[in-house]
Amino acid sequence: MAVIKTENLTYIYGEGTPFEKKAVDDVSLEIYEGEMVGVIGHTGSGKSTLIQHFNGLLKPSAGSVYIDGEKLWEDKARLREIRFKVGLVFQYPEYQLFEETCYKDIAFGPKNMGLDEAETDRRIRETAQMVGLKSELLDKSPFELSGGQKRRVAIAGVMAMKPKVLILDEPASGLDPKGREQILSLLKEYHQATKSTVMIVSHSMEDVARYADRILVMNKSKLFCLDTTEKVFHRSEELSSMGLSVPQITRVFNRLKIMGVIPERDVYTTPYALKLVLGELGKE
Ligand SMILES: Nc1ncnc2c1ncn2[C@@H]1O[C@H](COP(=O)(O)OP(=O)(O)OP(=O)(O)O)[C@@H](O)[C@H]1O
Ligand SMILES: [Mg+2]
Repeated sequence: MAVIKTENLTYIYGEGTPFEKKAVDDVSLEIYEGEMVGVIGHTGSGKSTLIQHFNGLLKPSAGSVYIDGEKLWEDKARLREIRFKVGLVFQYPEYQLFEETCYKDIAFGPKNMGLDEAETDRRIRETAQMVGLKSELLDKSPFELSGGQKRRVAIAGVMAMKPKVLILDEPASGLDPKGREQILSLLKEYHQATKSTVMIVSHSMEDVARYADRILVMNKSKLFCLDTTEKVFHRSEELSSMGLSVPQITRVFNRLKIMGVIPERDVYTTPYALKLVLGELGKE
């Protein structure tokens, strides 16, 4: 069963005003349990608007959203409970840290769920470790930490709620290459360790190619496609025409294939490329 499902989901900002903007247009999709999905699309294509429907932050202008088979907004009394199933980490989540200590910030979500002290404490320590925060940092003010560490605290706060689905809007943005790599690999580890569903909105095709099982492409408020990385990158010409490009390594290998150098076409990570090239060399 799909853990997230939308049917003809449409969202219009400022409906009925002169500034009306259809940000999500008739999107029907299914996200399955345990998969890691990358969400890409040009600036303004509707990615953030779309994901904010998945935990009921936005209410559809038309169409429906189902979480774990349950229709959102049908019974207002159930909304809170359903929301705990989908954890949403906003872009630049560190701006939302507000407690005196990192410990209290991470505790906010679990406490809100009504978990007792002991369970909250267990989860804080578990998630701090998961995101690579040393335990001595827990008693510090988030404002004493580096940008990358603050972001880990914010992400840990959502992970500590143990959502079935973890959605992150541009989790690596604004970080240096090393910080980006660390955040993305800890998300991959989290995904593998918890077997939960993870969705990552990203501007980087390279990142998405490396981490996602499937890629969701938004284009001008519409769902362009939601398919395996391989199949999405097969459509490189269409992606280019909407201002998105497949990873550089994929472009190189597509070219090598056209030139008849290497038969393989579906190359989208450097380690795989290296393996192929070494394999070809080994044949000679
Ligand atoms: N609060 C708002 N009020 C009015 N229009 C909005 C609002 N938020 C977003 N929009 C518009 O809705 C469209 C989709 O925006 P959205 O933020 O979902 O795109 P996005 O794909 O996340 O873009 P980005 O990559 O820049 O984050 C854009 O045209 C945007 O200008
Ligand atoms: Mg956005």
